Amino acid sequence: MAILKIARMGHPVLHRIADNVDDPTDPGITLLINDMIDTLQDAAGIGLAAPQVHVSKRVVIFFVPESRSGEDEQDSETELTIMINPVIEPLSEETNLDWEACLSVPDLMGSVERYSHVKYSWTTPAGNREERLASGFHARAVQHECDHLDGLLYPMRMNDLSLMGYAEETNRNIKLLRRGHGLEEDFEAELQVAEEG
Ligand code: NI
Repeated sequence: MAILKIARMGHPVLHRIADNVDDPTDPGITLLINDMIDTLQDAAGIGLAAPQVHVSKRVVIFFVPESRSGEDEQDSETELTIMINPVIEPLSEETNLDWEACLSVPDLMGSVERYSHVKYSWTTPAGNREERLASGFHARAVQHECDHLDGLLYPMRMNDLSLMGYAEETNRNIKLLRRGHGLEEDFEAELQVAEEG
């Protein structure tokens, strides 16, 4: 096993379009996947894309922990999934705003608008093509990881940089947290009720 060094925002490998993998069963790809799994576990992350470990190839691993699963069947806990040459297709124009963090952008978090419902497909390490539907956090995680293959980090997807901060500070700032969840109006209304009450 090997724990690989994680590239940080600004390193050229994170800012280029990664290459397709021609042979998913190539021993070099198998080794890369095993090292990515070790690296993800060591970093206590949810997902990792090959460019984040300095390999410009279209390989992503991710899982959805129970703590991040939602009500929706397509937003449930998801086992560790190894994706080669993944492709995402939005299923509607519906989007939602929520917080993200990234191992390549340490200590920070930011709120990003993403498609709420997607279909995604990928090649497994055995060479089979599979597909799944995803909603909510599951859909968000897939979009975040696949963006890495196109040289995009979540801050580049942000429309409002006031919704970015150090995680340590942001997690204590309830008002900012709620704005980043797209709950600003609810919060203002609740405040008003509280003040009036
Ligand atoms: Ni990331």
